[in-house]
Amino acid sequence: MADFPLSLLSFFAMSYTETVPKIIDESRQGEAFYSPHIQLDKPIDIKRFYIESYGCQMNFSDSEIVASILSGCGYTPTREVEEADLILLNTCSIREKAEETVRKRLRTIDKIKLARPGSMVGILGCMAERLKKSLLEEEKLVDLVVGPDAYRDLPNLLQRVEDGDKGINVYLSKEETYADISPVRLESNGVTAFISIMRGCDNMCSFCVVPFTRGRERSRDPFTIVSEAEHLFEKGYREVTLLGQNVDSYKWQHPETKENYTFARLLELVAHVHPKLRIRFSTSHPKDMTDDVLEMMARYDNICKYIHLPVQSGSSRILSLMNRTYDRDWYINRVESIRRIVPDCTISSDIIAGFCTETKEDHQDTLSMMAWADYCMSYMFMYSERPGTLAARKYKDDVEEEVKKSRLSEIIALQNSISRNHNLRDEGKVFSVLIEGDSRKSDTEFKGRNTQNKVVVFGKQPGYKPGDYVNVLIESSTSATLIGRIV
Ligand code: 5AD
Ligand code: SF4
Repeated sequence: MADFPLSLLSFFAMSYTETVPKIIDESRQGEAFYSPHIQLDKPIDIKRFYIESYGCQMNFSDSEIVASILSGCGYTPTREVEEADLILLNTCSIREKAEETVRKRLRTIDKIKLARPGSMVGILGCMAERLKKSLLEEEKLVDLVVGPDAYRDLPNLLQRVEDGDKGINVYLSKEETYADISPVRLESNGVTAFISIMRGCDNMCSFCVVPFTRGRERSRDPFTIVSEAEHLFEKGYREVTLLGQNVDSYKWQHPETKENYTFARLLELVAHVHPKLRIRFSTSHPKDMTDDVLEMMARYDNICKYIHLPVQSGSSRILSLMNRTYDRDWYINRVESIRRIVPDCTISSDIIAGFCTETKEDHQDTLSMMAWADYCMSYMFMYSERPGTLAARKYKDDVEEEVKKSRLSEIIALQNSISRNHNLRDEGKVFSVLIEGDSRKSDTEFKGRNTQNKVVVFGKQPGYKPGDYVNVLIESSTSATLIGRIV
């Protein structure tokens, strides 16, 4: 185990209080899906659907599949929940708070439904899968409960509801990848898009509900992934993020030639779509992240130099209780490989504070790991016990709420200062930035990201538009943003 001097840690922890970009993009939680580009065959008898997404990127990506399925059966999207004939919430179960948010939202939806008789309400995603029929019993105004593998059944389920019944399908499939469904894109920027490359998870991290809500791991046909990337490029998109719970265990066998496709091979196929199409991916699992993936990243300029490699805890004892199947030394070895093979690569992490039996020393191990790994950012959580998980069955959730809170605050403070220093080191450098659109604060500024996934804000100049690559000199920074000018 590598040791890190505590004085170094307190130096990192002391100075900054700015907020780092949050985990699951908080600004997008509950975001309503809308696309003006869905064309209906028959514009008469238009039924409108409204969909809100919660949780991880996978859920946002699934909402685009749902939108595609609904547009095939006479529905068109609306941004106005009050005018919708069908209101859908695509939900997350990862922490208790995520479920509470949805329950709270349902109280408002209840009122909207009562004011618009005949409208239907559906719960999709992980909460639907976890709670199944009991959700229909607890939430009287919910008509539809559909798990993540059952979206193709939506037209049939909707028919059932229109006939006066309830619609429920929470069947988990071993094969469903929605490979043939062309997602209807959230048209928010027209530059970056998600492509789901696999579904489910076969890991059994003891804290995690995902294997129960999203089922067994399965990989999508790589040729459908490449063709989706090609279509996106033709439509003007310049960045795709390949999504999976554990992308490194992507594996697909050609049914005829029996040839095997690994994640490294998939990356190469997508990198060949066009040198101007950037490729990102998420999430990598430390136990599976192999050097061949890193070598592929080093070989292609358009594979972004950024890896989300969740550590969860810096203590080998806790990692073992978490059933992460790696220890601290293994994780350090993976980071060292990244530094050796892709030296300009940034790394981010997920961290859980206050897992069962976590001691002060375990917590210090997490802090020292964060400082050593030099994460550009982290998604940081307090442990939340989830019913049915290995940890809920085997261990006591015995770290006091107050202790969890204070450890989380220390983790956040440390990450803020690490991110601050990270960004300070980028001042004076020039980066190639893909323009994504206007910055949040001003329409005289553009916002984009560099290959290391850092958000860069800079003044607009005539002749540049979203989807263009520009060189930006970094002149100043905060812990969350690099600020510069086009050079
Ligand atoms: N409590 C807190 N955080 C959790 N995560 C997953 N399950 C839990 C839980 N029960 C976090 C992990 C994971 C991220 C997506 O959510 O850090 O990597
Ligand atoms: Fe959950 Fe672990 Fe699978 Fe990630 S790898 S989804 S944390 S079980």
